[in-house]
Amino acid sequence: AGVYPFYGEHQSGIVTAAQDRLHFAAFDVADISRDELVELLQDWTVAAARMTQGGSAGEFGPASGPYDAPPDDTGEALDLPAAGLTITFGFGPTLFQTADGTDRFGLASRRPPALIELPHFPADALVDTLTGGDLCVQACSDDPQVAVHAIRNLSRIAFGRASVRWSQLGFGRTSSTTRAQTTPRNLFGFKDGTANLKAEDTAQVTDHVWAHPDDGAAWMAGGSYLVSRKIRMTIETWDRQSLREQETLIGRTKGEGGPLSGGTEFHEPDFATTGRDDAPLIDADSHLSVAHPDHNDGAVILRRGYNFVDGNDDLGRLNAGLFFICFQRDPATQFVPIQLNLAKNDRMNEYIRHVGSGIFAVPPGASEGGYIGSGLFE
Ligand code: HEM
Repeated sequence: AGVYPFYGEHQSGIVTAAQDRLHFAAFDVADISRDELVELLQDWTVAAARMTQGGSAGEFGPASGPYDAPPDDTGEALDLPAAGLTITFGFGPTLFQTADGTDRFGLASRRPPALIELPHFPADALVDTLTGGDLCVQACSDDPQVAVHAIRNLSRIAFGRASVRWSQLGFGRTSSTTRAQTTPRNLFGFKDGTANLKAEDTAQVTDHVWAHPDDGAAWMAGGSYLVSRKIRMTIETWDRQSLREQETLIGRTKGEGGPLSGGTEFHEPDFATTGRDDAPLIDADSHLSVAHPDHNDGAVILRRGYNFVDGNDDLGRLNAGLFFICFQRDPATQFVPIQLNLAKNDRMNEYIRHVGSGIFAVPPGASEGGYIGSGLFE
């Protein structure tokens, strides 16, 4: 990984080949004016553009600014390359209108219709302090220190204007977003990302990832919608299941990652063929079957999540799971129906619990001299 452009038609960090590490943060905006919000986005844009190109967050850098002022960069990435750093910004529903209907920034009428409030899904166990946010920043890099440096400096720049509501570190990308990448594995030990949308599928990406000018919010054209879900995995229980049970629940083999109906990793699954016991070779309640577009009116998403281990809980179990991120043009017809189907029918649910959630409108890329989300304020 080298250096990805910051300015352009789309924000980087969506169809960009998924990097190895993540630091994701959701922010609450303080009691500031609309002009101050714009200034924050302008300051963030300049700093993000610099950092993604391998530079410091500010013009002086960590070690050469005015001696009696705090440095305009914190310094821990001074000698490190960008390592594929991308910084992707998003706007939560509460930026447009708070839960009690307050329109703090005069933005309510500009809220994109696709930026819905996610419904409560069966078995959701969402924790308020892991959910929501007015703004989000997704920093991805192949070097964890570079991703953390990006979030730390953007938080520092936001001081007094926005503060971190929740954040998540992730490792081991659980998706591939280009055909050049090999498929990585999640903490259940299975390949994850096999049937993902890939950057090379340009027609599908245009149809299913990017917002279009006539989708109800012209300022979002070229942007996308991000859904995040912090999914805890009860891996100790999972680890005691037989290989047969694990493969049945996923619908794929653990080694090769091929569908249980036969063939290698990228073979299309066959849901019709039955085995000796007359049961389908791929269980109808397996994750593969329930998540598949054939069983969701053709709905597809671009998955871009990460593994996490946040230490352990007080019973000594690993506090581990998957920080799920997906991008799409319209969550109401993509993430929501797939997740509703999964929440009702996926046998894998026995081993997972959704504890955090977020939905954000990710505006198109900025042009040089402009700032992220400028179309919203015009
Ligand atoms: C496929 C794991 C959550 C949507 C897969 C695959 C695995 C997997 C192993 C098969 C390989 C692949 O095609 O990528 C998991 C785990 C999850 C999780 C461990 C939670 C801890 C979710 C959620 C959604 C989702 C929340 C969406 C709401 C999909 C889709 C596919 C898939 C759309 C591709 C299905 C196909 O077209 O074949 N997942 N997943 N997954 N998953 Fe998940």
